[in-house]
Amino acid sequence: MAIIPPHIVDDIMQNSRIEEVIGEFVQLKRAGSNLKGLSPFTDEKTASFVVSPAKQIFKCFSTGKGGTVVSFLMEKEHYTYPEALRWLAEKYGIQLPEDKPATAEELAAISERESLHIINEFAKDHFKNNLHDSEEGKKIALSYFIERGFRPDIIEKFQLGYSINKSDDFTSAALTKGYKIDYLEKVGISKTKDNRSFDFFRGRVMFPIHSVSGRVLGFGGRTLFTDKKIAKYFNSPESIIYNKSEILYGLHFSKGDIIKYDNCFLCEGYTDVISMYQAGIQNVVSSSGTSLTREQIRLVKRYTKNITILYDGDAAGIKASFRGIDLILEEGLNVKVVLFPEGEDPDSYSKAVSSSELETYIKTNQQDFISFKAEVLLETEGNDPIKKATLIKDLAHSVSLIPDQITRSVFIPELAKRFNLKEEVIWTEVTKARNEAVEKEKKDAKRRSNAPNSTAKASTARTNTSAPHPTADPYLNEPSPFEESPSIPVEILENHNEHDLMRILVLYGPMAISLEQVGEKGQKTLLEVSVAEYICSSLNEDDLGFESPTFTSMYQLINESLQENTFLKPDFFKSQLDQGIVQFVSEIEMNKHELSHNWITRHSIFTNSEQDKLKEAVLGSVYSFKSSKVEKRIKEIQQQLIKLGTEITNEELMDLLSEQVALEQIKKAISVQLGRIIIH
Ligand code: CTP
Ligand code: MN
Repeated sequence: MAIIPPHIVDDIMQNSRIEEVIGEFVQLKRAGSNLKGLSPFTDEKTASFVVSPAKQIFKCFSTGKGGTVVSFLMEKEHYTYPEALRWLAEKYGIQLPEDKPATAEELAAISERESLHIINEFAKDHFKNNLHDSEEGKKIALSYFIERGFRPDIIEKFQLGYSINKSDDFTSAALTKGYKIDYLEKVGISKTKDNRSFDFFRGRVMFPIHSVSGRVLGFGGRTLFTDKKIAKYFNSPESIIYNKSEILYGLHFSKGDIIKYDNCFLCEGYTDVISMYQAGIQNVVSSSGTSLTREQIRLVKRYTKNITILYDGDAAGIKASFRGIDLILEEGLNVKVVLFPEGEDPDSYSKAVSSSELETYIKTNQQDFISFKAEVLLETEGNDPIKKATLIKDLAHSVSLIPDQITRSVFIPELAKRFNLKEEVIWTEVTKARNEAVEKEKKDAKRRSNAPNSTAKASTARTNTSAPHPTADPYLNEPSPFEESPSIPVEILENHNEHDLMRILVLYGPMAISLEQVGEKGQKTLLEVSVAEYICSSLNEDDLGFESPTFTSMYQLINESLQENTFLKPDFFKSQLDQGIVQFVSEIEMNKHELSHNWITRHSIFTNSEQDKLKEAVLGSVYSFKSSKVEKRIKEIQQQLIKLGTEITNEELMDLLSEQVALEQIKKAISVQLGRIIIH
């Protein structure tokens, strides 16, 4: 390949804007003179990835990686140095000297990975040329696309093509060009049988599948025959450059609009993406027939926290989609669902109606996952009370997967209303599901750490990520957030009820909630208290505290400040010496719900619904916190009874049993109290 002359390299570096380039991969937010976002190199919850537009450099504090726009592309996209420059040149419209065709020797010297990329690029161009320039392509394939209503500019944009219906049209062209048959097979475009090589996709229209940055990683090929025995689509096999579970079709084209509209539409197929895009809804991707994976969701999460799933009206796989919904919830994203009318998919429907009708349809038909799941299940399972109970548990389980307490509590009244149940019943169910999940996670972690080769794995993992010591970075004026362990203490993660409650205390402490109090004569009065006052007094009333040492010291600070009639701001905690506190508060601040965009004071004005949401969350967390404490003690008693067995004296037995009875009563009282407080 031609060498890029130094003056052009300069030109490229002068014209590139690191914040724009990285902005294509990471959602960046202003943080002083820098920009901040989630590291694209690890799966982190707290943003530790910093970009400095002034200095044109980036630094990732969790992996230690850092450098220029070129090093970013090399790291993120596995580009070689010249490739990164070429990518930038293309983005910024900088003319490069004509490329000489690569010779066979030159090609052999390039890594396998690069060879596969080059071949895919070649194949994409070959298929495009077939579509537009060959008689067969124009007559059969281009006319097919046109008939389907694909506009020429869209066909061009998505780089659609056609594979000639001849055994080795592509393979022989590629071999002539000097590409190794070995590589052609690895990308899956050619197959060899009995010493004869032929084209895998022959006679199919071709949809190139792009990486986020626009490189072709593989293809989907749709047959033009209506014969039911022929598979409608063939897809490229996985290879070192193509990992299906980590790719979303269309993301390269849609990521800008996904960020812009802060939402991502998810549909099933290639044609759905293209048609929606053509209809003007351009924040759309598809999982291309495979069931949605966690990696794909994390890919979306880099750009938005909102996913709207678009389903065919008659999709048999709707129930199978529930797994995808749960995965989305578990990743902390919001999920909505739109069902299309019977027999329509996003592709057909977007062609049947105008763009504005399509938009209106989506707006008016989007449902939250609760009503979607409930409707689907009620329809199939009917009104059988036992099935209904299972259904409610199923929904409570989905709610329990949502990591954010506030978001969780938004769905609880809704679920209660839908099934005409008391909210505390749902709270109990959700709390139970969360406790079970935590127990399971603990067991799994134990099993993993007991696995025979786990230590070996752990140590290689450590050397692979080999984070250089994360000391203060001299370029960015960004203080090193942590000297040693960049993670939240385990004891906090293990106790989510404590975590949830402390989170609310810190983020929403000074905000006011109004509670209805029933006086001795049954008269009702409205009492306005701050969140912090309410939580502290109701824990103190039952003589309850936190178990985690980190939270215990935070709780003490909060109590002391309340006595002095002040509220502690998150920044106060972040300046503590205890790194557990700093980590915890930084993390919750990063993930806080829209309710608290700013540090809201007691006198801020809220809408009623925000007030209600907050109140639900506060009461719910206190309830969960208390009942988990009580339950824990009940379990301890039971354990003790078992352990002591016949050794137990009558006196001990009576003591334990009466404590147990008392606890059961408290448990009941907590839920009654909650039921009384919540105003419907
Ligand atoms: N798919 C696949 N292999 C198949 C069938 C489907 O990989 N044999 C994937 C493709 O990504 C396809 C998606 O699943 O786009 C949805 O399938 P389907 O709805 O059958 O295809 P459409 O995209 O709607 O194609 P068309 O409208 O051309 O029938
Ligand atoms: Mn279709």
